[in-house]
Amino acid sequence: MNTRTVIAGTGSYLPEKVLTNFDLEKMIDTSADWILSRTGIRERHLASPEEATSDLATKAGRAALDMAGVDPADLDLIIVATLTPDHYFPSTAGFVQRNLGAGKAAAFDLEAACTGFIYALTVGDLFIKTGTYQKVLVIGAEVLSKFLDWEDRDTCILFGDGAGAAVLVPGDDSERGIISTHLHSDGSMAELLYVPAGVSRMPISKEAIDQKLNTLKMRGHEVFKVAVTRLSEVVDEVMEANGLGEEDIDFLVPHQANLRIIQATARKLKLPMEKVIVTVDIHGNTSAASVPLALDAAVRSKRINKGDMVLLEAFGGGLTWGAALVRW
Ligand code: UT7
Repeated sequence: MNTRTVIAGTGSYLPEKVLTNFDLEKMIDTSADWILSRTGIRERHLASPEEATSDLATKAGRAALDMAGVDPADLDLIIVATLTPDHYFPSTAGFVQRNLGAGKAAAFDLEAACTGFIYALTVGDLFIKTGTYQKVLVIGAEVLSKFLDWEDRDTCILFGDGAGAAVLVPGDDSERGIISTHLHSDGSMAELLYVPAGVSRMPISKEAIDQKLNTLKMRGHEVFKVAVTRLSEVVDEVMEANGLGEEDIDFLVPHQANLRIIQATARKLKLPMEKVIVTVDIHGNTSAASVPLALDAAVRSKRINKGDMVLLEAFGGGLTWGAALVRW
């Protein structure tokens, strides 16, 4: 049980189409400056009408497999974290398995909204630690743009589409790899951030569509306050559980929802912003894809290197929140 799970490769994919804050100014009652100053977002990517979540997930997964040097045929398990699946069923992970030609892999989806990647990483880590599987592909992927009310300025300016992935394998020493993971949820505040209609609570109907109840609703200000508190708590939990001080953290890879939330968490950790990976400006809030998108950007630009202590964290619908500590 000494072997740790190592992230052997990362990958990501952003759809081609870019929607800037200036584009949004022309669509709704907002301003590019308001969006940038309140959220840190400059632009977001949108899937094409033909692109579904599994298409984005497949591209990110393939990039991660290439970096890891892992043949898809050797994968044991694929987990896709998403709140915007291709279909209610079967799973998005099944389509990714088909696209990749990962014939022997088990595949399932995991839904923990924006914390989905941290949850999926935790599950993948446990499958490896127990010796059940040797090669696990974990993906966070979303096509949120198709679940937004494009007339609601409270929400449509915030979100974007994308996918990020990581390949997990057993490490060959006890130093590198996933050190600890920490998951939390609080269902009492579920309706702060959700899609009211479309599944069993309120099946899709003409009335639901007329009222746009099949689109994402968020009480942003309340979510913001809970996010800052819970993220501070969970980073404290990671530090305490591992006997670490802020000087031990080389990089924070936060959920990319709002730059102000990211800055608040960094302040709490007493981390200078140079040690914080920020990509929210170029893709907005991509929910489960945001942490692996930021992680992949930092790995490919060689900001994160072997031996670095990396803290990942996320917060989102559920409500859910969590963190993972990784020695890169
Ligand atoms: O990923 C899951 C977790 N999600 C999050 O973490 C998101 C959390 N929430 C947020 O990021 C922020 O709450 C928002 C960016 C959504 C909003 O920022 P805020 O500082 O909390 O603003 P607010 O909702 O309190 O609204 C401030 C003002 C309001 O006007 P009044 O009442 O002060 O006159 C809004 O009507 O800003 C107005 N406003 C806008 N103005 C221009 C709200 N949306 C917009 C907009 N453009 N798009």
